[in-house]
Amino acid sequence: MACATQAAGHVWAPLDLARPVHGLMLSGATRDTGICYCRRTLLYDSVVLGTGQLGEWSKDWLKLNAVCPYYTMFPLDFPLDHLRLYPDARRVLDPFCGRGTTLYAARLAGRQAVGIDINPVAVAVARAKTVQASPVAVVQLAKRILRDMGEVDIPEGEFWDWGFHPCTLREVAALRDGLRTCTDTPTAQLLRALLLGVLHGPRNKGAPSYLSNQMPRTYASKPAYAVRYWRMHALDPVRVDTLDVIKRRADHVLNDCPPRTPGRVVLGDAARSVMALRQRFDMVITSPPYYGMRTYVADQWLRNWFIGGASEVPYGSEGQLARQSSQAAFVSALADVWRAAASRCRPQGRLVIRFGALPSAKVSPEELMVASLRQAGAGWLVRDVRPVGVPSRHRRQAEQFNGSGRVVGRAVDEVDVTAELVPTRGRR
Ligand SMILES: C[S@@+](CC[C@H](N)C(=O)[O-])C[C@H]1O[C@@H](n2cnc3c(N)ncnc32)[C@H](O)[C@@H]1O
Repeated sequence: MACATQAAGHVWAPLDLARPVHGLMLSGATRDTGICYCRRTLLYDSVVLGTGQLGEWSKDWLKLNAVCPYYTMFPLDFPLDHLRLYPDARRVLDPFCGRGTTLYAARLAGRQAVGIDINPVAVAVARAKTVQASPVAVVQLAKRILRDMGEVDIPEGEFWDWGFHPCTLREVAALRDGLRTCTDTPTAQLLRALLLGVLHGPRNKGAPSYLSNQMPRTYASKPAYAVRYWRMHALDPVRVDTLDVIKRRADHVLNDCPPRTPGRVVLGDAARSVMALRQRFDMVITSPPYYGMRTYVADQWLRNWFIGGASEVPYGSEGQLARQSSQAAFVSALADVWRAAASRCRPQGRLVIRFGALPSAKVSPEELMVASLRQAGAGWLVRDVRPVGVPSRHRRQAEQFNGSGRVVGRAVDEVDVTAELVPTRGRR
């Protein structure tokens, strides 16, 4: 399974914080902020873990996690490795939960989790990770919506003429309307996530897996580029039977799922939503928006339309943390989140962060992250910083895209940071 720490044929165990660490150089220790910054100067301990930890679960249990791709999602191994290190961490928080990988890892590990994200597409996918319903119930709901469809709000324009066969588009639009108006049950949440996952993707031989004309699966092409592409390649949209795709996908994803554990996903700004939580957490596992990555919603514009957004690309992306006007503002916004998280964590709670920066941003993710923890002044003691390495092509969490969506640049520079909450004067 994709695990960024498996680069170069080794599996590096995450640092055991209970053991003394050799090769650590203490630098930047500050009394006023309560943060010490310990940086490893030697190579990491190589503790071979074996063949990968996901083998423990039935392969079918892992399918729901892959219900819909999400840009800069981290591999399931990442939160699982850290949950395994802290068996006593019963409550887990992810303030930038994306597609809900941390929540799903918590479910597999039998822990409780709360996720937060400001992108409604991320929230729709993440919610599906916390619920349960049978494939039969999901298909029945889809059938009912399609059977009862009355007047449907169908988007118009060149993109829509080329993007979907008219009969398929009518079904997709009916499901969109139906899911927006029906009660938000677990069955509806799972049907929504399944549909988000099959809404666009490559055309394949045999029974179609996706509803759209030829498109990438991870992100939606911009309309002008997509229309040019379809025209140039004379790719007329083919009729895809929406219900048939839903049935096959529901059977594949939902046939056997892990038991659920209490889990909740909040749509909102990380710092504000964390402050509004009443629980105390033992652990925070998260991956903030990558520096320079401003298009989490714009790249998912078609999925955003499906859950009720506009039928155009929403370039504004309200509230996205990476849209700060300067590096200092970005660091300060992150510091607010770490401060809020500290106020909701028990002493000795852990904070595990994977963070990256686009090469075009020309910044060190490590420096940005440590600066934000320092600025929070909330008692996060940085215990370990390590580069993620360069996993194989298909295992990268993020790659650089150009405007047309093709991968053009080198892999994004990523770092894993682990911190522990230590008491500071004046902290509650
Ligand atoms: C690196 S992604 C997280 C990916 C996640 N770990 C996963 O596996 O899917 C960062 C997420 O932060 C979210 N985000 C950006 N600004 C935010 C804010 N102010 N509050 C909450 N979430 C925010 C983005 O929408 C994006 O989903």
